[in-house]
Order: sequence, then structure tokens, then C-alpha cells
Amino acid sequence: MKRIAVIGMQWGDEGKGKVIDLLSEKARHIARAQGGNNAGHTIVEGGREYRFHLIPSGILYPHTKCYIGGGTVVDPESLLKEMETLHKSGIQFEKRLFLSPYAHIVFPYHRLFDQLIEQRRGKSALGTTGRGIGPCYVDKVQRVGIRVAELIDPALLIPRLSSLVPLKNEEFQKIYGHPGIHLDEVVAQYQEFGQKLAPFVAPVEEMLFEAAEKGDFMLFEGAQGALLDVTFGTYPYVTSSSTLSGGISAGLGFGPSRIDHVIGVTKAYTTRVGNGPFPTEFSPDELALFPDHTASREVGTTTGRKRRMGWIDIPLLKATKCFNGTDSLAIMKLDILDGLDELKICIGYKLHGKMIQSFPATIEHLAEVKPIYEMHPGWKCSTRECTIYDDLPSRAKAYLRRVEGLLNSPISIISIGPEREKTIWMEPLFL
Ligand code: GDP
Ligand code: IMO
Ligand code: MG
Repeated sequence: MKRIAVIGMQWGDEGKGKVIDLLSEKARHIARAQGGNNAGHTIVEGGREYRFHLIPSGILYPHTKCYIGGGTVVDPESLLKEMETLHKSGIQFEKRLFLSPYAHIVFPYHRLFDQLIEQRRGKSALGTTGRGIGPCYVDKVQRVGIRVAELIDPALLIPRLSSLVPLKNEEFQKIYGHPGIHLDEVVAQYQEFGQKLAPFVAPVEEMLFEAAEKGDFMLFEGAQGALLDVTFGTYPYVTSSSTLSGGISAGLGFGPSRIDHVIGVTKAYTTRVGNGPFPTEFSPDELALFPDHTASREVGTTTGRKRRMGWIDIPLLKATKCFNGTDSLAIMKLDILDGLDELKICIGYKLHGKMIQSFPATIEHLAEVKPIYEMHPGWKCSTRECTIYDDLPSRAKAYLRRVEGLLNSPISIISIGPEREKTIWMEPLFL
């Protein structure tokens, strides 16, 4: 087991950053394949909190090499800010951070479209992060995008922007009654970004291929979660990239047969940020039983929005296990359930009074399903000091075993706090 993908099994924010950081102790290479700075991955280490949006969460270990792959969308301003934050924290990343020339660039017109489109949708807004991710992927697929390779070469960047920005402005003015953006300002700003990022641009695809040939330990860091996948997620309340294990391969130009193991990351409950149906969402009374959003670390890393919370949902996880072909589970945030008298596990859905076997393909049906719950007694004591599985209270073990059994998937990692050491390992992973 040398090349491991870490994938979110819910609607994002499952704790992928923590899992990547843990596994990076042994990994030499960590790569992001998709998404952009809509992602927010948190690591708590040595009393400090780090939040990564595009830079892989393995960067804290000095022995690692980190890659931003061709399937990502890169907002240069945001990436440079992340680099600056790392620099201020004394983390050296030169010759350890590499950017693929194939990645697409997020421009100010993408962010502006994102905001204007959301405003226009009114009540049916998707609740995007407003980072321009969707419009940037639209341009990529429409074949008018501008990539890192062009950003760093003024001879390519200037003519492309000069022909594109007037078209974008026409759309802003005619459809949205907005004056649009200034070509000269974008050209000047992005030329400067290009110069600053040029030293990091490298043949990421070849480097990853060679690392695999050598047999190095490698990690692939998923962003978002399976139900935000543009094809198999809760469409249209999804992001615009392929967030599944298959997206790793497509986004890095890395052969799928080389990925040895897929870890599906899930919370011991469920959360979602942004709009869209959520069958097991807590009632206000149930929510009141939990620590507040700040204490439970359920405030969005990227946008500061409170996350919606609900019970663990087995039909959802069965569907996302299927989409990803996950080999094992990382169950995060078990400690957040510590104070409850009783817990619920959703074991099935009824639609119009009948049990359904497949996860609904439409949000209309998903909004109508009635979860069928199984009740479990709470353990009502802290799990945060447990270091091995046997230390866990027996009711917590029974809860975990039930989830494992229902999903027919072994648990590799149990997490009981945001810090590195608050982790119970069920099996060694890099072998
Ligand atoms: P990601 O996007 O999947 O990397 O997840 P986020 O970092 O956006 O959100 C997960 C939040 O939960 C972060 O604030 C983490 O520090 C925190 N976290 C991760 N694992 C645990 C855990 O086991 N217990 C607690 N209490 N917090 C955790
Ligand atoms: P990580 O990697 C949680 C959600 C947004 C919105 C939808 C579309 O930290 O798990 P977008 O800006 O991508 O067009 O927004 O997707 N979303 C996330 N939710 N975690 C994320 O990333 C997310 N990235 C996007 O809230 O509902
Ligand atoms: Mg997150």
C-alpha cells in the first residue's frame, strides 16, 4: 500500500486535512487534483491552527513534496497569500511546492460571475463559496480558459486576456447591468502574479509518474466531498469538479491502477455547508444537545458560515462508498458525540411510504425521503484522552462497529480531536 487517496464521503469538511497531515509523516509526495480555494482544510499542530485552501495539507512536514495538479483551478492571489502565511509561520516551501502548467486560472471576472449568478438565483442560490470556481470550470470546458502555462508567459497571457475580457464585459453589461472589469488592471495584476508563481511551475505529471515508478509513498488529497461531485452529487447543489477517487486520476494525469487504496473520510455524524437537501439534518431541539458551532469546529474554514449538522446517514455513505470504491474508513469527530444520551443512525430511507434501495438521483426526491433511524445509547463520557481502541467506552465501540458493519467497510482511523495526537489507528497504512 504505497499510494493512498483520501476522499470526502459526505458534503465536504469531513476532516480530510487532518488525515492528510497524519499520513504525511510517512508520505513523500502529496498532490491535490481538483477544486480550488473553495476548499478549506484545517490542521492543528503544536498548538497552532493552519488552514489550507489549495496548498496540500502535507506541507507542514519538511520532508514532503507537494503538488497542485492540472485539474485544479488556481486563484493566484489566494495562492500567494497562502504562501505568505506559510512563510510567516517559518515553513519553508521553496523546491517543495510545485504547480502544474495545466491548471486553470481564476480571474476577477470568474469571482464576479459567481456572485452575480448567485444573486440572480435569489432563493434558489446554490450557496457557493463565491470564489469563482464554477465560472472558471465553465470556461475550461468551453475551451476559453487561461492556464498556468499561459499566465507565466506574457506573450500568451496578454493576447488571450485582450480578446476575452471585452466579451466578458459585454455579458456583464447586457445581462447583469454591471460595468464589468478593467482590462489594463487585470493584465498588470496577473502579469505580476505570473512572475511570482513562475518559479513554482513544474512538470507535476512527470514528477508524480517518476515517484510512483520509484515506489515512493504518495498521497492524493481530495477536496470537497462525494455528494458535491459535479456528476454524482446532489446536483445542482454541487461544486463544479469531480470530487471522487476517479477525479484524482483525471486531475493529475496519473494512471488509476496506480492508486492502491482509497480512504473514505466521514464524520461520526453529517454536516453540509451551503444549500440543498439534507435528510438527517437535526431539528432545532436535537441541535441544542450539541456543543455550539465554534466549540464543535463546525464553522466553515473558507467562508465562516455555520455548517448544518445531522445524524450519520448510512444510505448516503453506501452510495458514496460505491462512487469511490473506498477500501477503508476514517471516522472523524467521534468526540463531538460524547455528551449525548442517545444517538441515531439512519439505516434507510422511505419515499412515499416505501423503502428505497438506491440513493435518489434528484434533489426533489432526496428532499422528500424520510430517514429510518436506529437508536443507540450514548456513552456520556469523554473519548478525547483515549489512545487505543480498547480505551474507548463500550457504547462508542458498539456505535463504530455498527457503522462499520452497515457499510461493510473496515475502519482505519478514528479521530477524537482536531490535534494530531487525538487519533486512534486501527491498522498501519503505508506498507
Ligand atoms: P476538511 O475540509 O475535510 O479538511 O475539513 P475542515 O478542516 O474544513 O473541517 C473539519 C474541522 O473539524 C476542522 O476545524 C478540524 O480541525 C476539526 N476536526 C477534525 N477532526 C476532528 C476531531 O476528530 N474532533 C474534533 N473535535 N474536531 C476535529
Ligand atoms: P473542503 O475541501 C464544504 C460547497 C459550497 C456550495 C457548493 C458549491 O473543505 O471539504 P463552489 O464554491 O464550489 O461552487 O460551491 O459546494 N463547497 C464546500 N463545502 N467543503 C468544501 O471543501 C467545499 N467546497 C465547496 O458551500 O454548497
Ligand atoms: Mg473544509
